[in-house]
Amino acid sequence: MLSEPQTRTVRVIDDGAAIEVDFGSARHRFHAIWLRDNAQDAATRSPGNGQRLITLNDVPADTRVADARWQGDDLVLHFAPEGREIAHAAPWLLDNAYDHAPAPAARGWTGPGITRWDAALGDDLPVADHGAVCADPAARLSWLRAIARLGFARLTGCPVTPGVPIALAGLFGHVRQTNYGAVFDVRVEANPENLAYTNLGLQAHTDNPYRDPTPGVQILACLTNAAAGGETLLIDGFSVAARLQAEDPAAFDILTRYCARFAYAGTPDVRLEAKAPLIELGVDGELRGVRFNNRSAAPLRDVPYDLVPDWYRACRRMADLIEDPALAVRFRLNPGEAIVFDNLRVLHARTAITGAGSRHLQGCYVDRDGLHSTIAVLERALGC
Ligand code: FE2
Repeated sequence: MLSEPQTRTVRVIDDGAAIEVDFGSARHRFHAIWLRDNAQDAATRSPGNGQRLITLNDVPADTRVADARWQGDDLVLHFAPEGREIAHAAPWLLDNAYDHAPAPAARGWTGPGITRWDAALGDDLPVADHGAVCADPAARLSWLRAIARLGFARLTGCPVTPGVPIALAGLFGHVRQTNYGAVFDVRVEANPENLAYTNLGLQAHTDNPYRDPTPGVQILACLTNAAAGGETLLIDGFSVAARLQAEDPAAFDILTRYCARFAYAGTPDVRLEAKAPLIELGVDGELRGVRFNNRSAAPLRDVPYDLVPDWYRACRRMADLIEDPALAVRFRLNPGEAIVFDNLRVLHARTAITGAGSRHLQGCYVDRDGLHSTIAVLERALGC
């Protein structure tokens, strides 16, 4: 809720290089160059698509605010030396204020939109009905928000037809094709090109760290599951990272600062290789992703010689945490059910398949940005 207009004040400071605005509820400074650079008028930004029509170099380097005054909800600014008048709406300024940005948090932080979890989540797995998310935008938003917050959600009542992952991807993004095709099949095969296609249990992993970029979201839909065993385990890689950081900060540090290597050349037509840290932080220390895939590990060659034993110790400890049952949720994926998960956060595993029954999952990849874009579009449409 905005403060009453009469309580707002503005004053030009630093010889016009900035202004200080008291909104009543909060006080923020804004630089003149920032205010001019972010002008929302039709000559600066296209009214149709919001894209900027000028470059920074079209704005004088010595831009300053010559005069500032409130006019209703608009802060009207007169810029020199352009002699240009531009208005910024109070809600827009408050939404984009940067003066009181929080001090940098400890490395490995996550924003308020992320909730880490462990095995206790197994009592209340996020789940939605396919028919509901197709028909009801509010149900779809709730489902997608769960995926963004927890890193995964189940979906029930899906069609049991080949290609269904593509239809599910269309609910929030676009399929990323790979050498496996638009969709890939995970089933028991006699002579597999990939260990996922055998009846062995699969250690918890993230998919395809040998790609650049690594697939962000994975969809796995169950078409057949008549086999005993073959249960799905999910582990929150962000919880693994937090546990490692808490108990062994040096181990966390080395896994974030040095790259591992991953490779895949399972068929003659591909030789994929990429390097990335097992725990990836942004330049501001935000935890961005986790990669862990024993099957596609390639020789480590980016860690200084003296630190290699430490890196191996850290990797071993990370693997121990990933195997800790206290962190995993476990469930059986039945025909007509699917899981959608953040492949750079949530590790997945499969228990060994026993007996003669068949198991057939079909999957595909979608980029993370589609998920967040669809959430933003639905939030705007639904006014929440
Ligand atoms: Fe996988």
